[in-house]
Amino acid sequence: MKDKVTIHTLRKFKQAKQKICMVTAYDATFARILDDAGADVILVGDSLGMVIQGNDSTLPVTMDQMIYHSRIVSRGAKRAHVVGDMPFMSYQTTPEEAVRNAGRLVAEGGVGSVKLEGGEEFAETVERIVRASIPVMGHLGLTPQSVHKMGGYVVQGRDEQAARKILHDALALEKAGCYALVLEGVPMDLAAQISERLTIPTIGIGAGVHCDGQVLVCYDFLGLNPDFKPKFVKRYADLYGAIRQASETFFSEIRGETFPDEDHSFKSKTIRLVASNKSPEPAPVPERDEGGGEKIGPVYGVPV
Ligand code: KIV
Repeated sequence: MKDKVTIHTLRKFKQAKQKICMVTAYDATFARILDDAGADVILVGDSLGMVIQGNDSTLPVTMDQMIYHSRIVSRGAKRAHVVGDMPFMSYQTTPEEAVRNAGRLVAEGGVGSVKLEGGEEFAETVERIVRASIPVMGHLGLTPQSVHKMGGYVVQGRDEQAARKILHDALALEKAGCYALVLEGVPMDLAAQISERLTIPTIGIGAGVHCDGQVLVCYDFLGLNPDFKPKFVKRYADLYGAIRQASETFFSEIRGETFPDEDHSFKSKTIRLVASNKSPEPAPVPERDEGGGEKIGPVYGVPV
């Protein structure tokens, strides 16, 4: 069993200039695959509101939904550090409410830290959560929960004043106690400067190669949505194509009666089938199945 990644491991990665690999996951099966592949951090992102629930923003996601997905991801991730996203309006009202909700994500969802979006205006909230012994990851730049304020999903920090504000917020979040910072949708030179100035690791998404780590939504880099092709996403697989192809073959075998074949069927020990419709024999009463028969193992895939 490999050592669990902690927030201290991530700081050491930055010091050793070892890049941090972070991905999102929303269920135990994906968490297990990504963990086996070597993810350092698995984020249960509120992006689940879009890729799992099919909404056009992350805003409808609730605390209870985040807790449910955090719990099932935590079950699948053995080595990776699991971070739970604080959903919209779970921390923006009061620091007390924020601490309570962060506590629920840890206690009920099983995550090792929480992530929240926003800058200096949330410094006190970050401090209060950290004081409750819950590590906090910050998130600056393109912050999807502020989609209406930003006027859409647009790159942030392109002009001097906006760039200065993001750098200022980054320093404020580090001072408030954040252990790491996501930089989303910002120019690569700005992300490079912020990564240089901070002692905590930066994790980029659409922020260039100079961050201390990178994160992508797993459905994006695995190619599950053929219609979603933003500039910052590189596709490493075509899972939409693979799943569609496999499903079409499955359906054609059902329709052609080639599935299930004998290899995928069970044989009876005692029941003789009726010979034909013309000379029906009464079917014998089957022996009661007392168990101890052919074991088929767990149903519905391999438990993690
Ligand atoms: O919700 C999410 O998945 C995120 C990442 C894309 C950083 O916040």
